[in-house]
Amino acid sequence: MKILAFETSCDDTSASIVQDGRGVLSLCVSSQINEHTLYGGVVPEIASRRHCESIKKVCEETFKKSYIDIKNIDAVAVTYAPGLVGSLLVGLNFAKGICLSKRLPLIPVHHLRGHVASLYISNKNLSPPFLCMIVSGGHTHIVNVKDYTEMEVLAKTRDDAAGETFDKVARCLGLPYPGGIYIDKISPKGNPYAYKSIPRPEIEGSKYDFSFSGIKTFVINTINNSKNRGQEINIEDMAASVRFAIVDYMVSRFIMIAKESGYKKLAICGGVSANTLFRDTMNKECQKLGFEFFMPKLEFCGDNAAMIGSQGYYEYIKENTSSLDINAFSNKDISLK
Ligand code: KG4
Ligand code: ZN
Repeated sequence: MKILAFETSCDDTSASIVQDGRGVLSLCVSSQINEHTLYGGVVPEIASRRHCESIKKVCEETFKKSYIDIKNIDAVAVTYAPGLVGSLLVGLNFAKGICLSKRLPLIPVHHLRGHVASLYISNKNLSPPFLCMIVSGGHTHIVNVKDYTEMEVLAKTRDDAAGETFDKVARCLGLPYPGGIYIDKISPKGNPYAYKSIPRPEIEGSKYDFSFSGIKTFVINTINNSKNRGQEINIEDMAASVRFAIVDYMVSRFIMIAKESGYKKLAICGGVSANTLFRDTMNKECQKLGFEFFMPKLEFCGDNAAMIGSQGYYEYIKENTSSLDINAFSNKDISLK
């Protein structure tokens, strides 16, 4: 089965053709990063306009790359939630138009389920059940992936997401957007133990949930205190210390939940799963404990339509298709289809 897929939930316009959930026949991603960098973050109005301008070209490009004709497409999958509504609507309406004109079924896909599916296109031998940490710019979830379309959230952030924290800290340090990548890049030049008191809070009422907002506050206060003393902080030391603290906080909690839930098969996904220290630390910890560990190939960590085409296949098998009046949603629980 060949699925044409679209992803436009944030600032990447992407189209892909995926065969039977696992084979990526083509993938095109048009990034808007250069423009949003000027403003230090994604500007929703600009994002939707750029999606409108790029989506047709990206779609044509993905057909060209795959040498597949639209006649051979069996269904269209598209991200419909969560994300920036104006951005989601561009992909959703474009997908609806194709479904209407070509009489194809429409498969709405949850963005975070798509991130989980990035693991299936990267690891052909991975299948549920497993425990998965989804870490992106907007979400930090630890999810029990019981089956391809059955998921339960075991832990999540109470405030900022890990990716958002990386980006906000990077902005305070004068690094470009998206900051997570730049923090990761310069961290090896710094001392990860230079700032030992970066908070890793316990949450009242839940020993599993996260809170990241204190990290950004810590960095702002440290920079201001140094300025008041007429000193400058060492950017590489701060980047390395923040990266170490975030990774240590995430990995220790993930391993604790794995031990307590009895899962021995662990995976990470989402934009932050590209972080080199996160990948290395998870790998080492899982090896030490005899756990199986899976991560997406680097090209599938960030937002892309191939992961949507993969998840679309599993949603289709479960008959999770939709009529053409479906709307886009800025928020939606991953456990709901
Ligand atoms: O999944 P994603 O592409 O988009 C969302 O669904 O949000 O994730 C984007 C996030 C950004 O916050 C970005 O800074 C972060 O992923 N990111 C990284 C790295 N590469 C991307 N964070 C830390 N280290 C990286 N190497
Ligand atoms: Zn994402």
